[in-house]
Amino acid sequence: MAVLTNFLNKILFPIIKPDFQKLEEQLSKKTIIITGASYGIGESLCKLIANIDCHLILVARTKEKLEEIQISLSSQKATIQLYAADLRDVNQLDNFLNFIQSYHIDIFVNNAGISICRSIMQSLDRRHDYERTIKLNYLAPVSLCLALIPKLAQSHGQIINVSAINVLLAPTVNWAAYQASKTAFDQWLQCATPELRNQNIHVSTAYLPLVKTRMILPTKAYQNFPALTPVQAATIICRLLQTKKRQYKPWWIIIGQITSVLFSGIWLKLTTYYIKHKK
Ligand SMILES: NC(=O)c1ccc[n+]([C@@H]2O[C@H](COP(=O)([O-])OP(=O)(O)OC[C@H]3O[C@@H](n4cnc5c(N)ncnc54)[C@H](OP(=O)(O)O)[C@@H]3O)[C@@H](O)[C@H]2O)c1
Repeated sequence: MAVLTNFLNKILFPIIKPDFQKLEEQLSKKTIIITGASYGIGESLCKLIANIDCHLILVARTKEKLEEIQISLSSQKATIQLYAADLRDVNQLDNFLNFIQSYHIDIFVNNAGISICRSIMQSLDRRHDYERTIKLNYLAPVSLCLALIPKLAQSHGQIINVSAINVLLAPTVNWAAYQASKTAFDQWLQCATPELRNQNIHVSTAYLPLVKTRMILPTKAYQNFPALTPVQAATIICRLLQTKKRQYKPWWIIIGQITSVLFSGIWLKLTTYYIKHKK
């Protein structure tokens, strides 16, 4: 099983590494905000770029974990600053926005996120699931972008959005809260992109497949699925930082997108049947 998964991983997710020398030139002396830096993809990204002489502002709720990362990277070249905040909380978000006002910002990596896998019928008394996903995955990055646009325009900077392939494919049953909130921010950013380009701000989106982080741990079905490692996902983000390309998506996603359009009726029938007959 492990051999097959490794083989599939190689075919499905060939990782093109960035030119690390160019990346270093690109990021040197830059100030970079990374949200969701305490675990998973965000943590790996910090580790990959920590040996560059840049200023990292790391944001997440778990202060101790951020401190642990800061200590582990203390011998590296980057200056690391921590900001512990729950980005769903309007007051904490506003405090963070005030905090960054005094800084020149070059790059914003919107990475903090939560996912929820739950059917609608199990969510009838769980409006908060929709509130927390929309607050973190949509409203927080919109607020951050609004506050950062003047700064990024000044620095000819970059916004990198860590998104998911789900937003490019047919809707998936049980993922309404997550998929709606990730799609909302993706749409917002796509609508904003022409204006942002006119402000000399580059916009890049990483449409990631499954990544083996704590995010997918509660979903048992995903444990044996082919998936990126957090380091591979962070390498993709580094490449977007270096090339400033508009997007990353796996090569095979085009097949999924065409299938999603052509066979949407069949997909609906299949998922309805699956829900009816699953134990
Ligand atoms: N894992 C996947 O399969 C996958 C696939 C595609 C896209 N993505 C996207 O990748 C991004 C990173 O996810 P991950 O897989 O690395 O998951 P993860 O390991 O759970 O990391 C999520 C990060 O977001 C932070 N975060 C969560 N709630 C927060 C809040 N209320 N305020 C501030 N920070 C908060 C977490 O830190 P604290 O808990 O310390 O706050 C953590 O650092 C997400 O945007 C996700 O949608 C993931």
